Amino acid sequence: MKKFKLLLVASLLAIVSMAFLTSNINAREAERVALNEVQGIPANASVSSEWAKYYPRQYDSWKRTKEGDEMEDLLKKKPQLPVIWAGYRFSIDYNSPRGHYYAVQDNVNSLRTGAPVDDLTGPFPTACWTCKSPDVVRLMEEDGELEYFTGKWARYGSEAVNSVGCLDCHNPKTAELAMGREYLNRGLEVAGLPRFEDATHQEKRSLVCAQCHSEYYFKKTEYTDKAGKDQTAMVVTLPWHEGLTAEGMERYYDSIDFSDWTHKISKTPMLKAQHPGYEIAKTGIHYQKGVSCADCHMPYTQEGSVKYSDHKIGNPLDNMDRSCMTCHRESEDKLREIVHTKFERKEFLMEISMDNLAKAHLETGRAMELGATDEELKEIRTLLRHGQWRWDYAIASHGSFFHAPEETLRLLADASEKAQQARISLVRLLAKYGDAQYMAPDFDTKEKAQTLAGVNLQKEIEAKMKFKETLEKEWHKQAKAKGLLDEANRKDVDLESSYFKKK
Ligand code: HEC
Ligand code: HEC
Ligand code: HEC
Ligand code: HEC
Repeated sequence: MKKFKLLLVASLLAIVSMAFLTSNINAREAERVALNEVQGIPANASVSSEWAKYYPRQYDSWKRTKEGDEMEDLLKKKPQLPVIWAGYRFSIDYNSPRGHYYAVQDNVNSLRTGAPVDDLTGPFPTACWTCKSPDVVRLMEEDGELEYFTGKWARYGSEAVNSVGCLDCHNPKTAELAMGREYLNRGLEVAGLPRFEDATHQEKRSLVCAQCHSEYYFKKTEYTDKAGKDQTAMVVTLPWHEGLTAEGMERYYDSIDFSDWTHKISKTPMLKAQHPGYEIAKTGIHYQKGVSCADCHMPYTQEGSVKYSDHKIGNPLDNMDRSCMTCHRESEDKLREIVHTKFERKEFLMEISMDNLAKAHLETGRAMELGATDEELKEIRTLLRHGQWRWDYAIASHGSFFHAPEETLRLLADASEKAQQARISLVRLLAKYGDAQYMAPDFDTKEKAQTLAGVNLQKEIEAKMKFKETLEKEWHKQAKAKGLLDEANRKDVDLESSYFKKK
């Protein structure tokens, strides 16, 4: 009897808590629908201020991504970088990421993108704009994807003028989450994952970010354009064919014999990891427990009786009460300290791996000078290619030390191990050619490192400043005439780069 009563109480309890949970889920769903109610359709959807009158709170908070304005010259901070990237334009200029407000201007200003003199000059393809601007979504729709991916980036200088905005993540007719970059769907498909439209709502709250915060390469694609002319497009392609892991992508790149560039000092065919932020976050505990990018970077905010998503995407540690404390019970200070320790652990292993990689490139260069053959260097170069890929993969997706600490440290350790193996072989090879005592030259400042990498910084800066005085001004005039330039949202956008400060 006693046992029966106990069972009854237990089942009643279970029923009540189930009902509670269901009503909770229903309430959340109702809230979500209310939040997404259509208020109106913006006219010129790639211009975010057009959305302001319908969605003032999202717009105002979106504008505040301007506050993420800190810029750090990472080549100065980590002088191993120019050596590691010798021969690639990253060795010329590389800065910490800033708020979405600056994405277009930082792309234009980076010395990496060079100094075009007309619509046809590069050095980079149009694909460069892809993760900077909602005008890209518009252009792909207007011109077709292949046409958009054809030509040099200067071609769209007067078109891609609005920085990451509403149209990048929303359908302008329904305001629902949406994405207009078909390459993401192709990536999901080759990986055997549901397309954006078929993904769960919670997954969409991460997938909108994955449009841009993912690893990619430019795939050469031949096609015939509308005028019947043969063209070659450089199409942004996500290398997810063998899975969303560093090793899977490496297998894919190796299988198609792909390299981003040949290293200037060691002549190694290299891979440059872009920013596999989505992929690496997927391996972390938060993603695995169902937490989305938006949960931390766009937390709900209460304003009177209105609840909305904070569109000031930035550092979640600036508003932990909303970004962390909805789930955690520790004190903010405690959590902050835990995050900081994770950062320091990453820095420690990152320094070791970068030192080893940079030295291995220089030692390979020395062995080549002394007469070492490609055959003798084959295995060493493979270790360098694979080691540097792992290091880059781990750190190019900023925030990975927090999103997925174990995976980040695992990759950095493996990167070091591969660089060390290369260096052990190099000692033997250098001894064979009579220079066992060789010590790589110092690269402890940006200047020394860029000299080793053969960078002529002054020349790059002069060409860029001339471009800013001429072609860039012309782009703005044309964009204004087309009604695309949103001047209110370009205020103070060009005050700082690694090579000038107007403040
Ligand atoms: C980087 C992607 C991104 C950008 C850019 C963006 N949004 Fe959102 N937006 C989201 C996400 C994610 C949500 C949460 C949606 C959900 O869970 O239903 C959201 C929610 C919304 C909602 C639903 C109500 C709410 O606050 O949750 C509206 C309306 C909205 N955004 C308008 C805008 C407007 C207007 C802009 C431009 C000024 C903009 N968004 C820019 C990603 C973005
Ligand atoms: C259309 C492409 C695009 C989309 C979509 C996008 N980002 Fe970004 N994001 C960028 C670029 C480009 C930068 C670097 C901008 C710069 O340095 O000028 C950036 C920078 C950031 C930063 C650094 C901000 C700072 O203040 O330092 C964070 C954090 C970030 N993004 C998170 C997100 C999240 C979360 C989402 C999805 C809700 C998202 N991004 C969607 C392109 C995008
Ligand atoms: C559990 C919370 C959480 C989730 C989920 C999360 N982030 Fe972050 N993110 C953070 C924190 C905390 C930082 C570190 C800020 C710092 O550097 O101190 C960060 C850093 C970043 C940065 C680097 C910002 C910078 O200026 O260096 C980017 C970019 C970013 N996140 C994008 C994303 C994307 C894309 C996703 C989803 C795939 C995501 N985040 C998921 C909390 C989160
Ligand atoms: C939507 C809920 C949610 C949010 C928001 C969230 N977390 Fe978490 N966090 C979790 C879950 C779930 C775990 C996994 C451990 C568990 O199940 O208790 C976790 C684990 C952690 C851990 C331990 C795991 C590790 O990687 O060492 C830390 C530290 C942490 N979170 C920090 C943060 C910080 C900082 C923020 C805000 C930027 C944050 N979390 C936001 C749900 C959340």
